[in-house]
Amino acid sequence: MDQRRCHDLRVEHLHAPLAVATSVPRFSWLVEHEQTAYRLTVRTPGGELVWDSGRTTSAATSLVPYAGTPLRSDTDHTWTVESWDAAGTCARGVSRFGTGLSAADWTAPWVEPVQDATVLERWSLQDWIRGAGPATAAEERLRSVQLLRQRIHLPESPVRGRLYATAHGVYQASLNGEPVGDEVLAPGSDSYRHRVSVQAYDVTAPLRAGENVLGIALADGWWAGRIGLTGSSAQFGDRTAATWQLHVELADGRRIVCGADGDVVSAPGPWRYADLFVGECFDARGAIPDWDGPSFDASTWTPVRVTDEPTTTLVPFAGEPVRRLHELPMCVLHDDGEGIVLDAGQVIAGRVRLRLSGLRAGQRVTIEHTETLAADGAWFVNIVGINKDQTDVYIAAGTGDETYEPVFTYHGFRYARIRGLDAGMRVDAAAVVIGSDLEPTGTFETSDPRLNRLHENVVWSQRGNFVSVPTDCPQREKVGWTSDAQVFAPAATNNARVASFFTRWLANLRADQLPDGAVPITSPRSPFDAEAAAAADGVGGIVSAAGWSDAIAFVPWTLYERYGDERVLAENIDAILAWIEWQQRAAASALPDALSGAPLSPEREARQRLLWNTGDQFGDWLAPSTMEGRPVHEAIGIAPALTGELVAPMFQAQTLTLAARMTAVLGRDAESAELAARARAVRAAFAAEYIDEYGDLPVRLQGVYTLALAFDMVPDELRASVADRLVELVHERGDRLDTGFLSVPYLLDVLCDTGHRDLARRLLWQSEMPSWMYEVDAGATTIWESWDAVAPDGTPRATSLNHYAFGCVDDWLYRRVLGIAPVRPGYRHVVIEPDLEIGVTFARGSVTTPYGAIGVDWALEGAGARVTCTVPHGVHAELRLGGRSIHLPPGSSTHHCAPVALQHN
Ligand code: BGC
Repeated sequence: MDQRRCHDLRVEHLHAPLAVATSVPRFSWLVEHEQTAYRLTVRTPGGELVWDSGRTTSAATSLVPYAGTPLRSDTDHTWTVESWDAAGTCARGVSRFGTGLSAADWTAPWVEPVQDATVLERWSLQDWIRGAGPATAAEERLRSVQLLRQRIHLPESPVRGRLYATAHGVYQASLNGEPVGDEVLAPGSDSYRHRVSVQAYDVTAPLRAGENVLGIALADGWWAGRIGLTGSSAQFGDRTAATWQLHVELADGRRIVCGADGDVVSAPGPWRYADLFVGECFDARGAIPDWDGPSFDASTWTPVRVTDEPTTTLVPFAGEPVRRLHELPMCVLHDDGEGIVLDAGQVIAGRVRLRLSGLRAGQRVTIEHTETLAADGAWFVNIVGINKDQTDVYIAAGTGDETYEPVFTYHGFRYARIRGLDAGMRVDAAAVVIGSDLEPTGTFETSDPRLNRLHENVVWSQRGNFVSVPTDCPQREKVGWTSDAQVFAPAATNNARVASFFTRWLANLRADQLPDGAVPITSPRSPFDAEAAAAADGVGGIVSAAGWSDAIAFVPWTLYERYGDERVLAENIDAILAWIEWQQRAAASALPDALSGAPLSPEREARQRLLWNTGDQFGDWLAPSTMEGRPVHEAIGIAPALTGELVAPMFQAQTLTLAARMTAVLGRDAESAELAARARAVRAAFAAEYIDEYGDLPVRLQGVYTLALAFDMVPDELRASVADRLVELVHERGDRLDTGFLSVPYLLDVLCDTGHRDLARRLLWQSEMPSWMYEVDAGATTIWESWDAVAPDGTPRATSLNHYAFGCVDDWLYRRVLGIAPVRPGYRHVVIEPDLEIGVTFARGSVTTPYGAIGVDWALEGAGARVTCTVPHGVHAELRLGGRSIHLPPGSSTHHCAPVALQHN
């Protein structure tokens, strides 16, 4: 009998998802042979065959789309794959998936617990800079978490139970007193006015014959709570609500559907308040035992209000929810006179779980959070701003041993300070890391502990900012800034399986696109964001910006390149084309200030009208030299003013090129040719307007030269000169970085590709600020927003210590140090070219591709080097070593090269 198996079976990138969000799910599997044909079959639990692909001659093993009869919503399926090799040997695999509830099957209304509307706390950027803050304590301004309770009678215990639920706010569901699922902060962050994700839970086990109680604890979350740079409240709405449907199937096939309705009752819970920024306050004395159990008497609770809010915005949640990911023990550092300072040893996004005993009833324990301490160990909060308290409060029940972990908030921190304990009281604390529960994938390790720490720091910043949506930072803003995601996306793909995560975020970004095609700088974007931008000018009034809005093209392309996912291109192409038209209209409608009114030749005018080089931009944001010697709020305007005019047309050209490539993939050849021609015209106009005959650009900053080379803005005959200028600029800064957000991902590659690999290596190892190793040497455990977040003497600045953007270098480490770079989408064809002279004696690691892991393990040995590569079936791999090109067969193979010149740094 044949023992071969297909393994790692996935539907839409996930193992046995409970409720896929598409009517055409795609199937993936791994094989240990060269597949020549497959057959897929899909059946309902009753055995009904809904799809049989038949034996299909194809090597495809990834993202094969369903093509059977239309799938019913809220239905479980089993699927089987058979895979043959050329010899006719067959491998098999079986797995499951369910379909989510379609909008057409949603009949329950939104219900609102009785509540006061959120106190509106809205601050302009100017207020924020001035630091004006709320006059009253959190407890007086914020409102309690509401508990909702529904009784459900079942004639018998079911054979299948599915709960579909969501909220305007964040919620925790329970059934008969037990929490449902292990998600936290459901439903996650979305552009709620357009789409609200619905969670699906398997509740077969907790349901029983007779009385059941469904409980929902509901807090403000992203909907009504404080969020964003200014920490303003009620960004989507000022009242929380929830909706749900419980779908039950009995043994005889009867189906019962029970949705949120007017019989649901509510009451305030023991949380006096809960807010994503301010923190939460839990009064254990007010805990209501068994409030979500069948025997509880809720006769004094108040009926909810059924609203007529549309449920058309509901969509099945796609991807991995936010969960508790890790726990780190916290050790006591010292008592600073105000409280006991604890250290988790790592900057994270999450919260503190405290175990305490011997508290008096009503004793108030306060947990403050910060990412860093001052140089002398004193408490220092690096996150400035209104409503950024990041402080949780526990009011003890006085019942002996008590455990507290916040439920409806999270913070960015490494240190916590606990106040309110009696002298001598023992503190048992853990830092609970939360984040989107993405499967870790790649590995990276070298002989150099500093390089390993840099990589680890990137991974931790990824974890801390992949919280439902990609965020800039977990403490000050928690916002889906588009450029941060754009520059980091390639690095992210190496460290975790991020396909579903980004695909869902892109759905939000598309939903946030304005009718005129403008793509916003943040997503999810709230109605408050829109009003605030309309009321502001300058940087605060920016709606779209180069490098930010272009995420709509760059992120899909990254997903295609790394996962071979064509659907992500098809889903986004119309939004990309609308954005391109917006850029073109903006280009045609204005000239840069320096030119308007000046007499221009018709040729120049025509060129200028092709270039998007006007309007407010962030430019090469935070370029280090532009930040020196001025207060931050002044300094941040300099890179935008200096580089905006140049950066915008470069992104315009690159987005056109990506769109040309995407339309080609999608078989839209005429459009592709037209887009490519437009890209050429923009590049030619840019070169004529901004690059002189010596290869000089008008602004002498590394970032401008880097982008010009990376985005192919430079005519061939000038490339070497432009690269020489870039090298000069790097030397002028003492071989240190002077690249901002938009250019830093390309600097090292551009240097390598223009014959300056040594300088790229030097920049990697540079330990003088600004540099990556400076952060590592300064004890960083995550990637900082600013290179000088902690000064050489240990003095911290009020800036984020957990911002992944500059961590984009991690992609370079995988591609150039391990040397694993995709040549064709999804690593179908890969070139392995490790940099044996990078300055380490060994490097090993792997990248997870749709076909399995590609591993590289190299070491310097004697005068030469050994390179061992592991390649899965389905990948065409080529090793470039010592000037040779070696075809790598599937499996493991070892190769030698001699001798290499070592260059230690
Ligand atoms: C965020 C950035 C973001 C930027 C926009 C900042 O406040 O933290 O990461 O991209 O604003 O310029």
